Amino acid sequence: MTTQPHADRSAILARRARLLSPTYRLFYERPLHLVRAAGVWMYDEQGRAYLDAYNNVPVVGHCHPYVVDALTRQARTLNTHTRYLAEQPLELAEELLATMPAELGNVIFTCTGSESNDLAVRIAKAVTGGSGFIITDFSYHGVTDVLAGMSPEDGGPLGPGVYAVPSPAAAGGPAAFGEHVGECIERMRTDGVRLAALLVDTIFSSDGVYADPRGFLADAVRHVQAAGGLFIADEVQPGFGRLGESMWGFQRHGVVPDIVTMGKPMGNGHPVAAVAARPEVLERFAKRRHYFNTYGGNSVSCAAALAVLQVIRSEALLENAQRSGE
Ligand SMILES: Cc1ncc(COP(=O)(O)O)c(C=O)c1O
Repeated sequence: MTTQPHADRSAILARRARLLSPTYRLFYERPLHLVRAAGVWMYDEQGRAYLDAYNNVPVVGHCHPYVVDALTRQARTLNTHTRYLAEQPLELAEELLATMPAELGNVIFTCTGSESNDLAVRIAKAVTGGSGFIITDFSYHGVTDVLAGMSPEDGGPLGPGVYAVPSPAAAGGPAAFGEHVGECIERMRTDGVRLAALLVDTIFSSDGVYADPRGFLADAVRHVQAAGGLFIADEVQPGFGRLGESMWGFQRHGVVPDIVTMGKPMGNGHPVAAVAARPEVLERFAKRRHYFNTYGGNSVSCAAALAVLQVIRSEALLENAQRSGE
């Protein structure tokens, strides 16, 4: 492929410093200027190839032609929102729910993992009447004001009603996780805080990645549900088959969440995300609140997400992740 002339990196750095907020961060001491990608390879402005062993979004490979074609075709045909009758969001909801336990029966579409978690928090508050949330010591759940208070990995203080339990890295390891959650619920009771939910990334990606032993989350979920709280499985990192053996991280623990949030790989780079939940939970939420998200569930995003699911199946990517992981 012929490469266009590109500005040199120092010019881009200077321009970036002038134009973008200093809150942004770059990867690497010598930041990369990537100009194209295909499959597992990314290419810089000089045509040098980099094996993408990091990127947690393009789950079916960069610029996968099937996904690109599907979203281009839909963009040429119609792109609109969920206030019109359309089949794509229904097809997508059916396909997503088919990968989950039968108890999870409804889907709400959003655009980012943060929006999904923010909505899950709102649902949990509305449905339980509680305001107490349990998260882990080094978790990250998103960028909204509420989620910043539930994302200690980002360095800020915990929000009101937010309790952090030791991550599975702490003393006792994953096996002690349920005990920590049980103790935390007791602490909340003593403090007069009503439990709304346990919110965990089911692979604990920012806590350090804890996959084993399989099932270590089950005790924690049992404590939470027995205390009247909901279990929110944040699948933004582990979802869409990235763990290999199952489509969702919670499935490795033999638990059924009340709410599942997803995003990142869902559109292979296109911003599309969702919340799946038990219908009885969403019925209670819907009595009090309506939800509309301008771009959540738009036709093009749905086409992209459907194509991703299709590729995961047709290229047997779970099996591939499993084999490569082993
Ligand atoms: C576990 C987890 N939850 C939620 C989010 C937020 O997703 P987004 O950046 O799409 O808002 C992230 C992003 O890194 C994440 O890792």
